[in-house]
Amino acid sequence: MMQKPQLRPCLALIKPYIPGKPAAEVERELGIKNVIKLASNENPLGPAPLALQALQQSLGSLHLYPDGYCYDLRLAIAGRCGIKPEQIVFGNGSDELPSMIAAAYISPGDEAVSIKPTFSEYEFAMCLMGGNINYVPLVGNDFRFDLEAVRAAITDRTRLVFICSPNNPTGSAVAQKELKRFLESLPPGVLVVLDEAYHEYAPAGAALNTLQFIREGCPLITLRTFSKIYGLAGLRIGYGIAPAPVIEDLNRVREPFNVNSAAQAAALAALQDEQHLQRSRDLVEKGKEQLARGLQELGLRPVPTQANFIFVDLRRDAKQVFLELMRRGVIVRSGDIFGFPTYIRVTIGTAEQNALFLEQLAAVLAG
Ligand SMILES: Cc1ncc(COP(=O)(O)O)c(C=O)c1O
Repeated sequence: MMQKPQLRPCLALIKPYIPGKPAAEVERELGIKNVIKLASNENPLGPAPLALQALQQSLGSLHLYPDGYCYDLRLAIAGRCGIKPEQIVFGNGSDELPSMIAAAYISPGDEAVSIKPTFSEYEFAMCLMGGNINYVPLVGNDFRFDLEAVRAAITDRTRLVFICSPNNPTGSAVAQKELKRFLESLPPGVLVVLDEAYHEYAPAGAALNTLQFIREGCPLITLRTFSKIYGLAGLRIGYGIAPAPVIEDLNRVREPFNVNSAAQAAALAALQDEQHLQRSRDLVEKGKEQLARGLQELGLRPVPTQANFIFVDLRRDAKQVFLELMRRGVIVRSGDIFGFPTYIRVTIGTAEQNALFLEQLAAVLAG
């Protein structure tokens, strides 16, 4: 019998992440074809075309280690965002950043505060370091943020506050004024991690301006990704922007070559593909209306969203509906993984995908 070292006790709490199944896996398992996946908030238009071209050109350099500093991409993002190059840290997907932040700042027994429901990666990062995470519920049927309650949950052991806005899975978002008041109220020694993976989907005028706070030196790191609107989830690249002293700390725990060269080249080109960005935004705006209308016709009340997905209460066991939809070739996310077992989260797809989802959902609910 193999005698392995004992697992660190804090890891006993971690359940391995179960991602949305790829369409090909569901097709294989169920022996069906043309499965559509509306479960991982990917861009149904695919990668930005300019990114694909740049990717092709980058392949000849795959024998070389990537630029660990991401020089070209760093300068491009700094220029666009009006921040200094040393205020950026890159991650192998933005997923990597909560773990880096926890590795830099969390000792066993330290605390973080977050909202519920939200993205699971913050809890994972805290558990990994032996820290604890306390949750403050979002409020009402539209899952509003209550940052005063978040402030009240901060103790002298709190080092981090994880806020996701627009929030996965609810699509609800923080308002600029509320965030400003919250930042002003923070005790010293607390860093706010604002995950803005869906930032580019927020309607004009509603998007947070977190960069303004970072330029002012607030203890805030915003996390962004190329996986969502830029359509590069498979390449794994994201970044954080924060005051330079925070980035210095994160560079102590960052792997030297954590972002591959193909991802760097594609991301740089994707930033310049304004047409793809606009098409992706338009698709989501139209799809949002189509899905909201369709869901209302089924007597459901979708949560208003600022992202490329919709959270909706089916008022019945959503896991059963999820399984039945999968058998019919539509993969969504069941709300039980977020602690909301009567909800599903559906990614806004193309008009045809949205129509197919609505048709199959109507059939499942009727049956
Ligand atoms: C809120 C949020 N942050 C981060 C991520 C992960 O993004 P990435 O692909 O950059 O790791 C996701 C992915 O679903 C997400 O929903």
